[in-house]
Amino acid sequence: MEQNQTTNNIQVIPAPSSIISGKGFFNLNASTKLRLPNNDPALLGLGDYFSDLIRTATGFDLETTNDDASSNTIIIELAESLAAEGYHLEVTPEKIHITAQQAAGAFYAIQTLRQLLPAEIESQKAVDAIQWKVPVVTIQDAPRFSYRGLHLDVGRHFFPVEFIYKFIDLLALHKMNRFHWHLTEDQGWRIEIKKYPKLQEISAFRDETLIGHYNDQPHQFDGKRYGGYYSQEEIRKVVAYAESRFVTVIPEIEMPGHSLAVLAAYPELACHEGPFKTGNKWGIYNDVFCPTEATFEFLENVILEVIELFPNSPYIHIGGDETPKLQWKNSAFCQQLIKEQGLKDEHGLQSYFIQRMEKFINSKGKQIIGWDEILEGGLAPNATVMSWQGIEGGIAAARQGHDVIMSPTSHCYFDYYQSRSDDEPLAIGGYIPLDKVYNYEPIPEELTEAESKHILGAQGNLWTEYIPTGEKAEYMVYPRAIALAEVVWSQLENKDYDDFAQRLSHHFKRLDELNVNYANHILDIESKITPNENGLNLSMTTIHPTANIRFTTDGSEPSSTSSTYNTPLVIANDQVVSAAVFEKDEKISRTSQLDFKMHKAAGKTILLETPPAPAYSLGGKQALINGIRGSSQRYGDGEWLGWSGADLVATIDLGASEVVNSVQMRFFNGNGQWIYLPKKVVISLSEEGENFKEAGTLNVFEETLDKTKTIQVDLGEKTGRFLRVQVERFGLIPDGLQGGGHEAWLFVDEIEVN
Ligand code: ACM
Repeated sequence: MEQNQTTNNIQVIPAPSSIISGKGFFNLNASTKLRLPNNDPALLGLGDYFSDLIRTATGFDLETTNDDASSNTIIIELAESLAAEGYHLEVTPEKIHITAQQAAGAFYAIQTLRQLLPAEIESQKAVDAIQWKVPVVTIQDAPRFSYRGLHLDVGRHFFPVEFIYKFIDLLALHKMNRFHWHLTEDQGWRIEIKKYPKLQEISAFRDETLIGHYNDQPHQFDGKRYGGYYSQEEIRKVVAYAESRFVTVIPEIEMPGHSLAVLAAYPELACHEGPFKTGNKWGIYNDVFCPTEATFEFLENVILEVIELFPNSPYIHIGGDETPKLQWKNSAFCQQLIKEQGLKDEHGLQSYFIQRMEKFINSKGKQIIGWDEILEGGLAPNATVMSWQGIEGGIAAARQGHDVIMSPTSHCYFDYYQSRSDDEPLAIGGYIPLDKVYNYEPIPEELTEAESKHILGAQGNLWTEYIPTGEKAEYMVYPRAIALAEVVWSQLENKDYDDFAQRLSHHFKRLDELNVNYANHILDIESKITPNENGLNLSMTTIHPTANIRFTTDGSEPSSTSSTYNTPLVIANDQVVSAAVFEKDEKISRTSQLDFKMHKAAGKTILLETPPAPAYSLGGKQALINGIRGSSQRYGDGEWLGWSGADLVATIDLGASEVVNSVQMRFFNGNGQWIYLPKKVVISLSEEGENFKEAGTLNVFEETLDKTKTIQVDLGEKTGRFLRVQVERFGLIPDGLQGGGHEAWLFVDEIEVN
């Protein structure tokens, strides 16, 4: 056979530790047998799992055999010598031989085998006229990290239990093993607790839901009652189903914050009388549990039922994040408790709260996980920390000898935008494209080797304020979760983004068969704008190895007859560059459009006194003078740069003395997301780069609901070579508002000098 002449091209995600590909195929057919020599009950289950997996598409009912001489056999057995969760998979034309130390490893071998079969193996109906060939190969594999997780917030939106099953199946397909089920929120309590029926009657429902983005002002609501919860019966089934796929379900019960829905049902657990209603909009609420005996009794009773429902989870996640201290400050009870317990302040009280719950949970044989705010005021002795605000919490916890799961907003928040395109569906904000997730390294450089042992792995989070359906949830999670799967499973030396992208485009066929609504942005054009003597250079790339980029500069849609892009374009005047990827005559990417508006500073040199925050520095400082304005809807698109806790001080070298009439700037405004207009802007000029003279100033701040504000500082024909822009930030957000007590963010896109 012709195909036998070439070595097989193996495409498995996440990348296995080692692959030795051979020639030829194993043919899975109606007479293929299954042999499970150990007769281990766990392996018997796996035999059934594999038979079920292939039955619909192939129509085969695999027979089992004890005959160790028979060919055309798939053998699954346990062997002592392999790594935990690791496996060895050998495919020859006669047999497929899987060995693993534990059933989990054999399960992962089956996931690999599944990916070696044609994508149609996933079909939900019988597929004829296909040969079920498995390429000859030897694969040795084991995970890099033991915690490979995905989180789902079912509080903001409730997802039917069928979706939860599919979510777990997709996790398992990519060798992930932890499902963090975020079950309680201000906007809805989703787990049946028999002792407290009002959680089901009241806390599981809200009167209505915010329409559009939290930043859109004034807030509008849909007027529709919304809610639901999982019965204990449903939860038990989910947990058992996940266990059969080697996924541990970790329940999260939020405390002391994100508890408004509970207070709506049991107002006596708050620090003030209320009244309270289950949350109907997003953000952080000031209404939190009061650390009274009644609260602890309630939470302990809840936890007792939770522990029973999740018998195989070593952890109970207790939240601990985003707890405003306002009401504790105003509560005579809390102030007295702080004194009695010898605590320093309200952060000490949060630590007291968590430590008390930890003691109770430990006494029941379980460990707690908490978001990194549980570091505030002192870490509970045995807690595992989920580092989300950044990696600093994880570093601090690991240094204190605590286990850590990395889940930073910089790389692991799948509710953030994944494309810079303005036609993305509404998301919370931010920008985390696929390659950023892929290039995430969970072990911080700052840690010693011994400290690094505490990094158990990483987790992707899906907060669902803006995700009302399973379809949209899949769009946000996939393929980014697959990139994360490779981060946590594959050995570092086997990571290669271009190779991953190739395997992923192949893998998409499988996801199509599984009806996964993934986002396909990997072909989108990447544009890079750099300074050039005559203005700007625009270079464009796609990861597709053989396709062409075609473009227009007249605003028209690129077609198969448009100019082919070969070398960087020189941009000297205002123009619109529209480009797309074409394979032969077919357009295979979305159109990317760049609207260049040239000005005196475009493409010149710029220095910043303080660089933007790493999370909002995607375009680099040059983005401030690259001729392109940011999105008018989103600040995470790469054109906007963001600062927190620092003013913007930029010095632009215009290259020669120029007459400057005006400077235009635009600021993002979204107080719900802690983004404020600055106080004022000062423009100064200098001929030699020192002794700057003030040339114009403008007060910017105003109370407004507009998303952006454009200002123009008129200078009136002043001359200079160096132009300095000083933007004085808003400063601390007042208490009682979203983000109260934190520094406000400052966001700026283009500095246009005319
Ligand atoms: C979180 O994102 N509040 C953990």
